[in-house]
Amino acid sequence: MSNVVIHGHTFKVKITSAEIQKAVGDIARQINTDLKDKKPLFLAVLNGAFMFAADLMKKVNIECEISFMKLASYEGTATTGKVQQLIGINEEIKGRSVVIVEDIVDTGNTIEDILEQLKDLGAAEIKIATLLFKPEAYTKTFPIEYVAIVVPNDFLVGYGLDYNGYGRNLSDIYVLDYDADVVVS
Ligand code: IMP
Ligand code: MG
Repeated sequence: MSNVVIHGHTFKVKITSAEIQKAVGDIARQINTDLKDKKPLFLAVLNGAFMFAADLMKKVNIECEISFMKLASYEGTATTGKVQQLIGINEEIKGRSVVIVEDIVDTGNTIEDILEQLKDLGAAEIKIATLLFKPEAYTKTFPIEYVAIVVPNDFLVGYGLDYNGYGRNLSDIYVLDYDADVVVS
């Protein structure tokens, strides 16, 4: 596993594909137990969650639906604090068990926005499944039931996560390599 260069910056592997698959399997098993007979709707947040959602859903073996919404809150490597909705919720939510599927919960702004929408639409039960969770950056108090991997407050790319649009296709997760990234002037 070598380093990758994105937009001129060097990134090194932080979480391998094998580690990701094991962690995704662990939360899929919990979901299969907890939500059996609930016919949940999984609502994956595009773009970042596309790869996690695909792998998670292959490991979820209960009767369920999956749909997508599209939000954006990041510009470059820093959160803008504002959540922009590009594709909304098109499913009937009233009375349903809904699982929000996120790539990463950082400040929690995105999840809060979605939670409010789902509550307004009358969801019976709302759970959150996230591949990554950054507790140091989290500013909210609501619980996140299914966390695959807890990570420090570093900027990560790969497995759906991007750096200005690039890097989503990588099967491992990478972090900026400060040693290799020294700018010689
Ligand atoms: P939040 O609203 O601050 O919780 O941010 C959530 C969204 O920001 C995630 O769904 C990601 O799309 C993006 N994000 C947060 N941290 C990172 C990161 O380390 N790398 C890439 N995207 C990130
Ligand atoms: Mg996202």
